[in-house]
Amino acid sequence: FSDFLTDTFHRQHDYLRISVTERCNLRCLYCMPEEGVPLSPPRELLTTPEIVLLSSLFVSQGVTKIRLTGGEPTVRRDIVPLMQQIGSLRAHGLRELCLTTNGLSLHRKLDAMVEAGLTGINLSLDTLDPWQFQLMTRRAGFSAVQKSIDRILELNRLGASIKFKINCVVMRGLNDCEILPFVELTREKDIEVRFIEYMPFDGNKWSKGKMFSYQEMLDVIRSRYPDLQRGLDHKNDTSKTFQVPGFVGKIGFVTSMTHNFCGTCNRLRITSDGNLKVCLFGNAEVSLRDILRKVNNGEPIDDVALESLQQASTGAAERLLPSSHQPLLIPNSDELLDVIG
Ligand code: GTP
Ligand code: 5AD
Ligand code: SF4
Repeated sequence: FSDFLTDTFHRQHDYLRISVTERCNLRCLYCMPEEGVPLSPPRELLTTPEIVLLSSLFVSQGVTKIRLTGGEPTVRRDIVPLMQQIGSLRAHGLRELCLTTNGLSLHRKLDAMVEAGLTGINLSLDTLDPWQFQLMTRRAGFSAVQKSIDRILELNRLGASIKFKINCVVMRGLNDCEILPFVELTREKDIEVRFIEYMPFDGNKWSKGKMFSYQEMLDVIRSRYPDLQRGLDHKNDTSKTFQVPGFVGKIGFVTSMTHNFCGTCNRLRITSDGNLKVCLFGNAEVSLRDILRKVNNGEPIDDVALESLQQASTGAAERLLPSSHQPLLIPNSDELLDVIG
């Protein structure tokens, strides 16, 4: 395939994250205000055929991993048929189809998703205590999430081999006291628990004081498990992997704030309204939706000439990659904290 997805820093962008909805059924303190985020008019959002078309386009250009994100992807009504269609791209080079979810309604759709080709689940869970869950997500639902987790583990016992990670954003004074219970989860369960440094986003009321750093987390864990071992990370992983010797699962750290990983970042992103972005923190975006709809006279797309689309969309990626996806765009630790803190 063409090497347009490889940038001048030799990073091959073969991992595409697609946001399939802005909506969410939780209101995590670190992510959304109680009233939710402003929603775009439906006509501005990508339709299912458009998402499938863009997916196939990027797979034809070398993308091997697609992650569906949100908001909360499972609140999209046709998420299962969407996954079935994207899953069929395995025949054309797609190797991994992953989901980032809060797990609240996952258990209802999980079996059908796995059937459709889902290979990995990153489930966001910041506490193991139902009351704390309600405090951090502003909603009830801990037992529903637990049901999803149990079903994932059960499917794996039955031979499904779903790569399963739990994402835990650590906030000082809220859930930093739960780091050790989360590590304990990995004693007998084949889960990777990833502790995430709290990051600033527009309007999430971030403050330096609430951020619990990678080093602090390591200190807490080493005080109980002094023989914690560093594991091997894959080339483009955002997390640093560790394991307590003898435990079945692993732990990891997503250290966006104190040790950024821009130098190996290989992600392309498509927002739910169809903008292509290369960096989580970058503002440069190109509307693939507009390109698609121009080819189709302003209508949401069902069937168009793939070749002209391919040229337009890959051209957009080519322009964005060198200009707005500079490694170390986000300065490291103190420098960053000085800028925003
Ligand atoms: P894997 O496929 O398991 O590597 O998933 P992932 O870590 O790419 O995705 P996930 O949706 O589980 O996100 C985990 C955390 O990483 C979240 O806190 C994201 O906000 C953060 N994250 C994802 N991509 C980036 C990125 O490019 N830069 C930074 N700084 N953080 C990111
Ligand atoms: N800082 C760190 N991680 C965050 N997430 C959402 N908001 C933040 C933030 N401010 C995490 C969620 C989910 C993943 C997609 O991003 O917990 O696991
Ligand atoms: Fe945000 Fe995810 Fe929490 Fe929803 S579940 S509020 S999208 S972090």
